[in-house]
Amino acid sequence: MSRPAAETRALARTFLAQTLGAEGDSLLLEHATRDDVLARLAAAGRPSPAARPLAPDGAAGLEVTDARIAEAADLRTLAQLVAECSRCPLHGTRKNPVFGEGAADARVVCVGEAPGAREDETGRPFVGRAGRLLDQLLSSIGLPRASVYICNVLKSRPPRNRDPLPQEVAACAPYLERQLALIQPEVIVAFGAFAARTLLETKSALGRLRGRVHRYAGYPVVVTYHPAALLRNPGWIRPSWEDLQVVRRMLDGVGEGEARVG
Ligand code: URA
Repeated sequence: MSRPAAETRALARTFLAQTLGAEGDSLLLEHATRDDVLARLAAAGRPSPAARPLAPDGAAGLEVTDARIAEAADLRTLAQLVAECSRCPLHGTRKNPVFGEGAADARVVCVGEAPGAREDETGRPFVGRAGRLLDQLLSSIGLPRASVYICNVLKSRPPRNRDPLPQEVAACAPYLERQLALIQPEVIVAFGAFAARTLLETKSALGRLRGRVHRYAGYPVVVTYHPAALLRNPGWIRPSWEDLQVVRRMLDGVGEGEARVG
């Protein structure tokens, strides 16, 4: 029986990461079969991938450490680290990493939970039904999608959209931290309880977190419903829009105190 596609992709990624990590001159993969490549590696005196030890979790030897993430000079470099990341097992089941997208100097960063099926297919955040609703909500406060930055706590899709596990969040959190430090937004909007609880390090219910401005690493954080929850509960769309009005007022220079809801 053939290997599942995700496993094959993970092996290919591991192979390429190890190949790129090998010292010496460059290796041309174009038109080369697997055996050609292994033969060239052997001829060059490099251990073949099969002979080289893997990191403990089966990841490639080029580990993405917290330090490498914290030192990423720009979003492009950081996205490259996510692409080669194997800090949690989700890299083996995802189709594509979903780093995030938008303006590097965005005034607003929107943070969701984790990629869903459509995001996993495309490598882009919030592109399914929930994403279309998010776009409409942002437009309603005068923020076209292209003007903001959109990302998630997790950069890989959990299988069958299950809740992210604590170790997955711990592995991925430094990426979000660095994204925010590079963008330096004026406001962060946490969409849904998961993003809010992760950013604010709290277990509080969403209802208790809405309606006031919080702080994450010095940045103001506004909490609102997740667009997917709004699709299930259209009655929450109006309260969500009111949360986003707070963001609008903050961008318009109204003090945070005045911007508070209620
Ligand atoms: N839900 C999320 O939290 N993020 C996405 O990117 C898509 C759906």
